[in-house]
Amino acid sequence: MGMTTSASDQSGGTGSAATPPDPRLFAPATQRNRQPILDALSLVLPNDGLVLEVASGSGEHAVWFAQQLRPLVWQPSDPDPLMRQSIAAHAAGAGIKTLMPPLDLDVTGTPWPIERADGVVCINMIHIAPWAAAEGLMRGAGAILRAGGVLCLYGPFKRGGQHTAPSNASFDQSLRAENPSWGVRDLEAVADLGAPQGLLLDQIVEMPANNLTLVFKRKA
Ligand SMILES: C[S@@+](CC[C@H](N)C(=O)[O-])C[C@H]1O[C@@H](n2cnc3c(N)ncnc32)[C@H](O)[C@@H]1O
Repeated sequence: MGMTTSASDQSGGTGSAATPPDPRLFAPATQRNRQPILDALSLVLPNDGLVLEVASGSGEHAVWFAQQLRPLVWQPSDPDPLMRQSIAAHAAGAGIKTLMPPLDLDVTGTPWPIERADGVVCINMIHIAPWAAAEGLMRGAGAILRAGGVLCLYGPFKRGGQHTAPSNASFDQSLRAENPSWGVRDLEAVADLGAPQGLLLDQIVEMPANNLTLVFKRKA
């Protein structure tokens, strides 16, 4: 996923053996996409309440969004313990009261370890996970979102069965080569998963680098 292992790994290994390893992970893409994603989220998330971020990864997004979207409470999560350590370490350095400790949340499990949310955000997960993760995400978000709450999905998508750019087609190929159950998803297939869960596709926002933000609204 393009993450460097940790800040300490980049130091050349000259530190003392007693220096504890730095658990922070860094995904360079987060520095490029965080502002456009924030701009899209700001238009659709509520001003207060709680937003659950699934698949938070390094936690860099979580710190940035929590900082920028106060007083909204930001709840990061990830099933990978190394990611949760990284999220906690980035958060510790930021000292943001509205940023919650990361939850251990695998979207394919039921029930989710949180009962209610005013919004759910998922960035760059469903193409780097089996299709069951997309199914679990829609099922779980439909279960915890309040009526009128939004689910925002960011990433590359096919439209009408076609890639929207050559770069997405080659990215899709490289994903499938790494794991045959991964791959750029069809927007329409994802929307079809949402409808039975009460999640209706409300907006499609064009993003830089041929990505999209899909905004689903939980019906009453
Ligand atoms: C490509 S990273 C994206 C991380 C972050 N959102 C970002 O944009 O930098 C994908 C993340 O999805 C998480 N993930 C994979 N399968 C998952 C699942 N079944 N439920 C929740 N998260 C999952 C991984 O642990 C990883 O942190």
